[in-house]
Amino acid sequence: MNIVWHEKTKQFHLYNDTISYIMYVQPNGEMGQLYFGGKIRDKEDFLYLSYRNFRPMVPGCGFDETFSMELNRQEYPGFGTTDLGTSAYQIECENGNRVSAFKYESHTIYSGKKALDGLPSTYAGEDDAMSLDVTLYDAAADVRMVLTYTIYNTLAVVTRSVRFVNCGKKQVVLNKALSACVDLPDQNYEWMQFSGAWARERKPIVRKIECGVVSIESKRGGSSPNQNPFIIVKRPNTDEFSGEAIGMSFVYSGNFVALADADTYGRLRLLMGIHPETFRWPLQENETFTTPEVIIAYSENGMNNLSQTYHDLYNNYLVRGNWKKRPRPILLNNWEATFMDFDEDKIVKIATKGKEAGVELFVLDDGWFGKRDDDYAGLGDWVENPKKLPNGMKGLAKKINELGLEFGFWIEPEMVNPDSDLYREHPDWAFAVPGIEPALGRHQYVLDFSKDEVVDYIYEMLYKVIDGANIAYIKWDMNRTLTDVFSHGIPGELQGCVYHKYVLGVYKLYTKLISAFPDILFESCSSGGARFDAGMMYYAPQAWCSDNTDGADRVRIQYGTSYGYPLSSIGAHVSAVPNQQTGRTVSIDFRANVACFGTFGYELDLNHLDDQEFERVKEQIKFMKEYREFLQYGKFYRLLSPYESDLAAWMVVSPDEKKALVGVYTMRSMVNSVDGRIRLQGLDESALYCIGEQSYYGDELMKAGLVLNGKNAPSFTKETDYSSCLIHLIKK
Ligand code: DGJ
Repeated sequence: MNIVWHEKTKQFHLYNDTISYIMYVQPNGEMGQLYFGGKIRDKEDFLYLSYRNFRPMVPGCGFDETFSMELNRQEYPGFGTTDLGTSAYQIECENGNRVSAFKYESHTIYSGKKALDGLPSTYAGEDDAMSLDVTLYDAAADVRMVLTYTIYNTLAVVTRSVRFVNCGKKQVVLNKALSACVDLPDQNYEWMQFSGAWARERKPIVRKIECGVVSIESKRGGSSPNQNPFIIVKRPNTDEFSGEAIGMSFVYSGNFVALADADTYGRLRLLMGIHPETFRWPLQENETFTTPEVIIAYSENGMNNLSQTYHDLYNNYLVRGNWKKRPRPILLNNWEATFMDFDEDKIVKIATKGKEAGVELFVLDDGWFGKRDDDYAGLGDWVENPKKLPNGMKGLAKKINELGLEFGFWIEPEMVNPDSDLYREHPDWAFAVPGIEPALGRHQYVLDFSKDEVVDYIYEMLYKVIDGANIAYIKWDMNRTLTDVFSHGIPGELQGCVYHKYVLGVYKLYTKLISAFPDILFESCSSGGARFDAGMMYYAPQAWCSDNTDGADRVRIQYGTSYGYPLSSIGAHVSAVPNQQTGRTVSIDFRANVACFGTFGYELDLNHLDDQEFERVKEQIKFMKEYREFLQYGKFYRLLSPYESDLAAWMVVSPDEKKALVGVYTMRSMVNSVDGRIRLQGLDESALYCIGEQSYYGDELMKAGLVLNGKNAPSFTKETDYSSCLIHLIKK
């Protein structure tokens, strides 16, 4: 890994063993992009990759009409000089000017990576990565801009963020400040996004890139279940196992935009950052603004390889603290077992059965506080409900601990019900625009987390509940989109900052809680998977993937989620049947065979299972205890997509290739079909692998395929709906 500055040609080359990123100072002093892709040998000059020719009807730069920014690729494009494509930022000066021209001033190259103030970001030790800060200056606005890049040693990843500094005496306003731009020299790509809604999150959707703009966004305050802040552009012939793909992931949990602008000269511009429509940030003298980070990854070996890069990066350089690389505890959550109808005895009874099954952690979900018997009341009043928890959280935690289980509980700190003491005392702490009746969502309003006093107050309340009780885990939920966003009592000039400040407030509360209670495992949640993003993962190493716990739907949702996120982060539980969302019944084995490719837990009253099912649960937990580290941190491959046929498959291979586990699922029975074949991945070609009594070489399994018959998969039958099996491979 290295970052080289070629003084003579004014070119930077960031490279490691797999990728190169090359940029330069253009003739007009602004930064241009020359190359991003597979590693190429370093040399002094790559200028031939730029375009220098006169073109009729294209504006040139100053007197040099052979150079136009529009015909070249830009690092961080502004608007209004000679690049007229989609811009990455816009600064409004006091005189109304919005045209900028940031010129190269200086740069610094250093080992490791700096943290971003108040924001989540990937990190790196001195030997893991190198970073570059390029400082540019715009005379019209009197603003400096620092473009920051990090390249990792062993990963095909470049991260980017931008800092603006107002160096002048006059106010400037950032109307737009995206985080990264990748300008590609051709448009022969497809765009892939992960879209959905509540209970059907992250469905992969592929769109053709053609002249014009393709984009996704969230203006819902959170990253949203509708569009995930992660995109891939891939060559049309790229599949899971071969071909070029570029990913962009946003380390942020609020409004965003991601787009591809294919212009009429063959340039493809990718942009990602905070959504400009809900953003306006004034900067006074010496004030700075830092954008969140975008992670750009590259693969020339298909999309599995791209996903594995993100999985490795997040497990090693995003998740922090005591839960980094630790196998996740097997938990039992009472939500689908009781909803809000519980008391201490009922909970202890459910937990006792959990202990008997081998569960390690009991999680008390929504309903333990204030007057919370349904979702009309109580949010904001983070004090134990004495009828349900007569001995408080401490008392319940003690009882659960005495059973031999760890204990954790649910919170939704960003919200308030109109029927709550908090709202009655501080109605101005909820977002509402004077003169407009604010919208309710799940009968609740959103607290104004852009205000420090609100964040601090909620922290104090939560601190009192957690402190002294032995709390091992917290599930942090967020159950509505933001509307009516207006912060009471601040100057009108600052209202455009509120959406972003809200997200900073959420991060601030996470930081305070994590600092006070570093051993707690946080699981993020937002009506299931509505805030499944890399920003959250910095604080909460796992995320509840979806409120849809139906085994069959979960194959699809977890499959889509795996493109951008590691199995160690995917909250997955076995729940009761018929499923509360879909009414569908699939076997307890099917449900567990899906959930074990995630963090694994149960969300039902185990007392209601018959003896045979309960025995299965015990066996599943025993299996998961043995396999979880390998499953959560091994190499994950998608093999057959549930979005493309009724047969789905995925697998995990251990880092030493000695062990592999394949999960196979049929959604609908296949009448009169012959044995299916699945070509496996990631094995040692020359090694012999045992599958039960049979053995096969790695190359056979990867090239000819694993034949799905009764010998290899005895429990699997394609003649019934929702049949599944786990196939174990052990190297001889
Ligand atoms: C939505 C979550 O996704 C569920 O798991 C549960 O915690 C409920 N909220 C509780 O209100």
